[in-house]
Amino acid sequence: MDKDALVSRLKQRLAETGTTALAASLRAGLGKGVVSDILSGKSANPGIETLRAVARALDCDLADLLTATPAPAGKRTIVLIVGGGISAYKSLDLIRRLRERGVTVRGIMTRAAQEFVTPLSVGALTGGRVFTELFDREDEHDVGHIRLAREAEAVIVVPATADLMARMASGRADDLATAVLLATRAPVLLAPAMNPAMWGSPATRRNVATLTKDGVHFVGPNAGEMAEANEAGVGRMAEPLEIIAALETLLDGETGALAGRKVIVTSGPTHEPIDPVRYLANRSSGRQGHAIAAAARAAGAEVTLVSGPVSLPDPAGVTIVHVETAAEMLDAVTSALPADVAIMTAAVADWRATSVARAKIKKQARGAPPTLALAENPDILSTVGHLASGRPRLVIGFAAETDDLLANAARKLKAKGADWIVANDVSPETGVMGGVDNTVHLLTAAGVEDWERLPKTEVARRLVARIADALSEKSSERMARSSRV
Ligand code: CTP
Repeated sequence: MDKDALVSRLKQRLAETGTTALAASLRAGLGKGVVSDILSGKSANPGIETLRAVARALDCDLADLLTATPAPAGKRTIVLIVGGGISAYKSLDLIRRLRERGVTVRGIMTRAAQEFVTPLSVGALTGGRVFTELFDREDEHDVGHIRLAREAEAVIVVPATADLMARMASGRADDLATAVLLATRAPVLLAPAMNPAMWGSPATRRNVATLTKDGVHFVGPNAGEMAEANEAGVGRMAEPLEIIAALETLLDGETGALAGRKVIVTSGPTHEPIDPVRYLANRSSGRQGHAIAAAARAAGAEVTLVSGPVSLPDPAGVTIVHVETAAEMLDAVTSALPADVAIMTAAVADWRATSVARAKIKKQARGAPPTLALAENPDILSTVGHLASGRPRLVIGFAAETDDLLANAARKLKAKGADWIVANDVSPETGVMGGVDNTVHLLTAAGVEDWERLPKTEVARRLVARIADALSEKSSERMARSSRV
């Protein structure tokens, strides 16, 4: 067999079984010695070099392939409907990531979807047949839309176009996708994607309201650049990892690692008014805080997200309190107490104008510019961290620094009475403020952990996993103490 044929067979196998299964068979086939040579970067024999070349042809790093983490136990099956929009291509990445997590994906494509991605690529990634027709004799005989609808633990639509949502909202069943959506009893999750004007149109607003009332769940759309040149606004499809987090919320919400816990998260900047038209603000986008709220919800927590002004959609399933100023944020946080965990991600303005002018401050002809008298804002993290009674068991702050990151973060940990501080360098060249990635350091009583650069959604997932571990350790310590008494 020539190399191209081998690579295409391996690609097929990778699509069918996912990275983890291939990793397991590779590890078994190679033996421990060779595996450790590969992981330590040695090329002790030409065979390893050939393997590296094959992995590269598969768009994988050989070491990554060998260390792919095992899929979680308890396989689940979901139906993924690909809708006809430019972001249909992201469904391919989503399928790959779901398969890596051990999820069986049954693919359905609308006719319009096939204009953007082919059934062949969807099928190669799901590792199974792709269903496209309602009245296909073979499909109906073999599986049938009712069985497809019944067997799924969830149905997700990626992207959910305006037209597909309109047809769902009016109960149509004139193609396989809508028939399955009408027949399913499983939770349905839509990832809408469309032009901002279409998303904001009265018809789409009505359809979203109807579908929400019918119990359909949404993830996104997000704000950002559109595929069309010079178009921006709310309408971008949620990223695959956000869709997976929303799916996990839907399926594991009641049994997740934070089920039964209450979590308060602050996010975004605050706006401090100067007069009716001007305010003091900062560049925080709220991405990190919103991702933490979504991840905590995905882990089953009851989440209150107190957010300053941001252009992000409200994460699904959380109680959101929109505020403008630091004083309002403090009020909202104290009203949301008690809680098991408080995570203060917001970039709260440190100062506010001592007095807010009732009318717009006017320029004085040939006069000096006005001086702005500032007063310090209340420190929300410190207030919660120092609560004598009703303090959350875990109080976590962020430290946004441009200099002396770790020293400043350590100082904040102590001064603000926090249990942990997540420190991030927000110098302009890092692109952290407003960006999608973050490089953080976790400061706890045990020391400092440096995390690699990660998408903010992944930082959120890891942080939530750490919180769940810490709370369960605290619970078992408490139980041990009470059993000693
Ligand atoms: N924070 C807060 N209330 C404030 C200021 C900050 O709750 N009025 C919280 C932030 O949400 C974050 C932590 O305190 O969790 C640190 O915020 P940061 O902006 O890094 O520090 P500051 O305390 O504002 O100090 P400085 O601006 O001098 O670095």
